Order: sequence, then structure tokens, then C-alpha cells
Amino acid sequence: MPLRLRFLPGFLLLPVLFRLSAAIYTPIREYSGTDFFSEWDYYGFIDNTTWGNVTYVDQNTGTSQGLTFIDSSTGHAIIRVDNTTNIPAAQTVNRNSVKITTKDAYPIGSLIIIDVSHIPYGCSVWPSFWMLGTNILWPLGGEIDIIEAINNLNSNQYALHTTPGCYLAANSSQTGNTIETDCSTGQGCLVQETKPNSFGSGFAQAGGGVFATQLDVSGIYMWFWTVSISQSISNRPDSIIVSNSQRSSIPASISQADSASTMNLTDWGTPTAAYLSTGCNISQYFQPQQLVLDITLCGVW
Ligand SMILES: *[C@@H]1O[C@H](CO)[C@@H](O)[C@H](O)[C@H]1NC(C)=O
Ligand SMILES: *[C@@H]1O[C@H](CO)[C@@H](O)[C@H](O)[C@H]1NC(C)=O
Ligand SMILES: *[C@@H]1O[C@H](CO)[C@@H](O)[C@H](O)[C@H]1NC(C)=O
Ligand SMILES: *[C@@H]1O[C@H](CO)[C@@H](O)[C@H](O)[C@H]1NC(C)=O
Ligand SMILES: *[C@@H]1O[C@H](CO)[C@@H](O)[C@H](O)[C@H]1NC(C)=O
Ligand SMILES: *[C@@H]1O[C@H](CO)[C@@H](O)[C@H](O)[C@H]1NC(C)=O
Repeated sequence: MPLRLRFLPGFLLLPVLFRLSAAIYTPIREYSGTDFFSEWDYYGFIDNTTWGNVTYVDQNTGTSQGLTFIDSSTGHAIIRVDNTTNIPAAQTVNRNSVKITTKDAYPIGSLIIIDVSHIPYGCSVWPSFWMLGTNILWPLGGEIDIIEAINNLNSNQYALHTTPGCYLAANSSQTGNTIETDCSTGQGCLVQETKPNSFGSGFAQAGGGVFATQLDVSGIYMWFWTVSISQSISNRPDSIIVSNSQRSSIPASISQADSASTMNLTDWGTPTAAYLSTGCNISQYFQPQQLVLDITLCGVW
């Protein structure tokens, strides 16, 4: 059950982080290439936050068991669950998996882009890419869930988790479906993706997608773009089909960027989720955020 991060042709491997200056973001860090895993800490114990049936390995175990590695032919960074050890059903025996957290934390004013080519899906699987405020008890520093779904769900969900008083403003301009507006509830203020292929088999068949999160004093905004917007045409083995549309929905500012490019959000369109500061004082509820990538199995959803 690998989670693969990948290169777009001629592009950077992500996540890439940017900082805002005069409406343009300049790159401050790129996690990519052979040293991808050097800037992350490995959890190294059981899943004692969501109580899945996994033990998150330390770095040596992850490397020696092939649970975290860089694919030599593609350059993709891969994290995966052990799928070969026979695990007897018992409360005390868990399957090995991976949870990694960036050593650095990123404050309000940051932009995070992650380019993913595969996310595991199916019964019991719970993969996620999220961010967590540093050094204080959950959820005092705020949590931002960017990729998070389980089992056979076929759309991604976005959420914030905070102490009471932070809400998704009713008038926010977003394309996603609001499921919950109160960020202090168990599921957080939850917005469901409405674009196709954001999770599950659709995401895999489309070849992945790009997720972006803007952490700004005016609000927290999240976008998703699928790599392939015309999945069905590839099912015609008898035909040559010359597409008359842009194959990818990923904006040119991202797909044509390299690792030194600044980022201008003008061509990004309306975000899927927009948590405006009119409903939630972002500076009050969100500390600098560490990025987290993990895969658990079962657990408390
Ligand atoms: C999880 O376990 C580790 C190691 O025992 C401990 O340091 C950490 O505080 C625990 N986290 C929670 C949320 O209980
Ligand atoms: C485990 O996963 C790897 C990589 O996806 C795959 O090649 C292999 O067939 C899997 N093994 C089993 C026993 O499912
Ligand atoms: C998974 O973990 C739960 C909670 O710790 C436990 O009750 C259950 O028995 C475990 N399942 C397996 C198959 O080990
Ligand atoms: C949303 O409503 C709030 C409170 O009524 C208002 O201050 C804010 O300007 C509105 N925002 C938008 C984007 O309409
Ligand atoms: C961002 O891009 C838009 C559209 O190409 C352009 O009009 C605008 O001037 C750019 N912003 C900056 C600060 O360069
Ligand atoms: C938002 O929170 C910050 C930091 O706690 C505070 O300085 C500011 O006054 C708050 N803004 C509003 C509108 O309450």
C-alpha cells in the first residue's frame, strides 16, 4: 500500500513550501530527490493518536524493511505498509507502517504544494497528509487535514481541528461541499471534494493529482487538481484519440514551474475549501505547522 510522491514532467517533486511577499510566493523548501527522507522525523512507536493496528517504524526499520525509499527509476518518494509479514490477530501485535513529520514548522504566510501519484485505498486503509501545530497539546496549535479519506470513499476530505470558537464562515467562496462548520467538533470543520478523482481508484487511475494549501491571515485555502481530466478516453483500444483539451487540470503556474520558480496564484481558480478569517481568527488558532505523512489501518476515524 504505497503512497508515492512524484515528479510532473520537467517539474519539482513536492511538497514545496513557499513564503508570501507582495502577492508572489518564493520557494523556501523542497522535499525531493534522494535526500527526501532526511528532513523528516520517524514516529517510532505504535499509533497512539488514532489507535490503528500499526506500529510506526523508526528510520532504520523503515529503510531496512523497504517501507520508505526512493524509487530508483522514477525518483518518487514512497512510504508503504508492510504487506508480507504474517500478523496473528491479537490486540498487542501490529503491522509495521510509517508516520513521518517534518523537522521544520511553517508559519502563517506559507503555501504548501504536494504532488502525489498514488494513494492507497480499500478496506481498513487510512492514508493522510496533514499539518499540526508544534509543541502544545492537541488541538491547541491547530490541525489542518489536506489529504484524508478511508476505505472505499472516492472523494477526499479537508478539515481544520481547533479549540472552540473557530468556524467555516457560511459565505465563503469554495467549490467543495461543507459537511461541518464547527472546527472544534470530532470531525472538525469538514469540506468534501466535488471534483472527480480526488481519492480511491479514480485517483489511482488518473495518475494522481496535486493538492495546495495556503495558510494566510485572511484564511486557509485548499485546492485540488487531478492529473487526468479525461479518464474515459483511454478505454478505447481501437482508436487513436487526439485530445482537443488540456489533458491536465493542473494550472500552468504549477505544471510549468521548476524548483526556483515563484508562485502566483492568479490561475488557480476557486479553492475547494476556504476557511475565511471572518469565521476563524487564523492567527489565534494556528501555530507554525509541521507536515505529517502517514498510513494507518483501522483505528478511530
Ligand atoms: C505516544 O507514545 C510516545 C512514546 O511512548 C509518547 O512519547 C507520546 O507522548 C505518546 N503520544 C500520545 C498522544 O499519547
Ligand atoms: C506487497 O507490495 C508490493 C509493492 O506494492 C507488491 O509488489 C507485492 O506483490 C505485495 N506482496 C503481497 C504479498 O501482497
Ligand atoms: C486492532 O486494535 C484494536 C484496538 O487496539 C483491537 O481491539 C483489535 O483487536 C486490533 N485488531 C487486530 C486484528 O489486531
Ligand atoms: C462574510 O460575512 C462576514 C460577516 O457577515 C463579512 O464580514 C465578510 O466580509 C463576508 N465575506 C465575504 C467573502 O463575503
Ligand atoms: C500574477 O499573474 C497575473 C496573470 O498572469 C498577472 O496579471 C499578475 O500581474 C501577476 N502578479 C504578480 C505580482 O506578478
Ligand atoms: C486574532 O488573533 C490575534 C492573535 O491572538 C489577535 O492579535 C487579534 O486581535 C485577533 N483578531 C481579531 C479580529 O479578533
